[in-house]
Amino acid sequence: MDTLKFAVLPGDGIGPEVMAVALNVLRRAAEAEGITLEHSEADAGGIAIDRHGAALPDETLRLCGESEAILFGSIGGPKWENLPPKDQPERAALLPLRKHFSLFANIRPGLLYPELVNASPLKAERIPDGIDIVCIRELTGGLYFGQPKETRELPDGDIEAVDTMVYRKSEIERIAAVAVSTARARGKRVCSVDKANVLENSVLWRRTVTEYVAANAPEIELSHMYVDNAAMQLARDPNQFDVILTENMFGDILSDEMAVICGSLGMLSSASLGTVNNRHGHRFGLYEPAGGTAPDIAGKNLANPCAQVLSAAMMLRFSFGLDALADRIESAVRRAVTSGVRTADISFGGKNVGTAEMGEAIIRNL
Ligand code: IPM
Ligand code: MG
Repeated sequence: MDTLKFAVLPGDGIGPEVMAVALNVLRRAAEAEGITLEHSEADAGGIAIDRHGAALPDETLRLCGESEAILFGSIGGPKWENLPPKDQPERAALLPLRKHFSLFANIRPGLLYPELVNASPLKAERIPDGIDIVCIRELTGGLYFGQPKETRELPDGDIEAVDTMVYRKSEIERIAAVAVSTARARGKRVCSVDKANVLENSVLWRRTVTEYVAANAPEIELSHMYVDNAAMQLARDPNQFDVILTENMFGDILSDEMAVICGSLGMLSSASLGTVNNRHGHRFGLYEPAGGTAPDIAGKNLANPCAQVLSAAMMLRFSFGLDALADRIESAVRRAVTSGVRTADISFGGKNVGTAEMGEAIIRNL
């Protein structure tokens, strides 16, 4: 493979500046292997509302459809917060993108290098070797997309709002398969998180995951945990987990908790994989940092670009099958950060560098 064709949607806030770093790192890493990047940029989110009157213009969707993967920055910000909820960037661009491309499998690594344990709000003695877990979140079902989803006025004048939580067995099976294959490449343990003491959905979830693992992956050690307990256990002893498997809403909440115990949102990457393969025979996917647009520091050369760079590495791994190149970028980030070159969010008393300098440090360590 000598050309990697992907769409770039930098979005809002810190998105464009961290994306610029990620593209530089990608270019330098690929160059060394004789690989060319062929990426086209398009607007999504607030910037697209401003320029085109729509958070996800048709043109952007078309470009994504013609690509083998999407490298995504982040979208949203105070400027668009007063729009009706349905028109805000997150709901009008990110969720439709996930649904349109059936990006059902959200992979969020919870990785904290041992050298950075002091960046975590957890006591260092609880995590002497850092943290290394993965959250597999179902991304196109459950409360986010179930119908009906509406606010309605009742005959008695009261108002009610309804969101519907719905899962099919087949949707649970396909995300269980992702958790199993992730666990196979790691510690071979899956903890499925649900609320089976209360929710019908969770009863089906638990039964389906249990049957799936028994039939397809008896070598995987499967456990189940209620979501409230999982939230508590993550804060108490995160490394008791290897792979966490959960539904959309629970995964949204737990993955933010995982992010904060791993020291900084600025370090956490993610992949959202679809159901179809691209022309290279790998999964089409969308790759985005977990941290959001951070409007308070946008444009100030303060943002940590590592999550965006690590998301680009995930793209190489999952959508282009370039594991060695992905490893190289991940190692470069690790070497740069652990050699003491750090942005403000992960430094604790050391010398801070800016976004661009962090990018240069990563490139030096490639
Ligand atoms: C995430 C985000 C999104 C979500 C928002 C921006 C819609 O919080 O990717 O976790 O809730 O899925
Ligand atoms: Mg979230």
